[in-house]
Amino acid sequence: MNTNSDIRIGLIGLGYWGPNYLRIFSQLPGSQVTACAEKDLRKAAPFRRLFPGTNFYDDHRRLIDDPSIDALVIATPSRSHHALAKEALLAGKHVLVEKPMTVGPAEARDICRTARLMRKVVMVGHTFLFNAGVQALKHHIRSGLLGNLHYLHAERTNLGPIRDDVNALLDLAPHDVSIFLDLLGKMPRAVSAHGGSYVKTGREDVVFLNLFFPGNVLANIHVSWLDPRKVRRLTVIGSRKMAVFDDVDVSETIKIYDKGVIKEKRYSNFGEFQMILRDGDILIPKVALSEPLKNQCQYFIDVLRGRKPLLSGPEVGLRVVEVMDAAQRSLRAGGKTVALRS
Ligand SMILES: NC(=O)c1ccc[n+]([C@@H]2O[C@H](COP(=O)([O-])OP(=O)(O)OC[C@H]3O[C@@H](n4cnc5c(N)ncnc54)[C@H](O)[C@@H]3O)[C@@H](O)[C@H]2O)c1
Repeated sequence: MNTNSDIRIGLIGLGYWGPNYLRIFSQLPGSQVTACAEKDLRKAAPFRRLFPGTNFYDDHRRLIDDPSIDALVIATPSRSHHALAKEALLAGKHVLVEKPMTVGPAEARDICRTARLMRKVVMVGHTFLFNAGVQALKHHIRSGLLGNLHYLHAERTNLGPIRDDVNALLDLAPHDVSIFLDLLGKMPRAVSAHGGSYVKTGREDVVFLNLFFPGNVLANIHVSWLDPRKVRRLTVIGSRKMAVFDDVDVSETIKIYDKGVIKEKRYSNFGEFQMILRDGDILIPKVALSEPLKNQCQYFIDVLRGRKPLLSGPEVGLRVVEVMDAAQRSLRAGGKTVALRS
């Protein structure tokens, strides 16, 4: 790749999410979208006029076979990610693939191996790792402001969109799992999931996933596409302070509550520690507004240019897929606890 010229991007999939990549990579300095592939070419119609310098095809192999394309962005349904990413890598392209990287761990390991073999970059679209609010929350946790973490709780609910290829767990929870793994810097020991299928049989619309992390840290994720409210909230309870990240609230994305319980050395009448509730100030740190997907695309360019280390690489994608796979197995087994490798 010539370091002075634009990085030439090929984009596969122009459904709901793909057009965001077309817009961003076309606007970012240092990249251009050479071509897009969309099986249903009618979806490309609105973009032909807006992006006259981009070619539109109905067959992704036109992009694979184009030697001028440096990197492929894969924004297709999850079940197609493995085959498309592998094909792209074997053709010598770098890859930015949407989450989840694959639907199973064997396929995810295959992507890790193929990326190493071909010496190509694979980055997974775990957008929340590029979200300024999540990064600020991570900073406050790592600085010790919250004390030792006790538990985390994530809610990701809305009415739709309802997917045909995966359940609500695989569609939505990879976001929260990627955030948890990043914030805690470790894998859960085990997971357990319960869910219900109300719209279609056999595909859960709502799932409650528990994750058991080392050090007695408990985490819970509630995902649903059958809920009246759009909620994107993460609550982190520490021994010193408590924090809430609300992705829907752009002006007060993070709140840090000086709340907790103090164990008084004095003994109560019953010979126990006295528990004093601490209800102090609320701190709202300033989080500069930025579009997470744009940050992610810029980061991909920086990685390809050798300016930044790989974040959200294939190993991260694999770990998220391993957690999701264990969660799916637990769901199928009626909530049985499923252990994970450390
Ligand atoms: N990071 C995020 O916040 C976020 C948000 C939404 C979706 N996503 C992810 O993006 C991916 C796509 O989601 P979506 O909502 O856009 O799905 P979608 O079904 O709306 O769009 C996918 C498109 O890919 C096309 N397609 C499938 N296989 C193709 C192929 N081989 N060649 C060319 N086109 C092909 C389909 O025709 C469809 O138009 C999923 O993996 C999803 O999880 C991520």
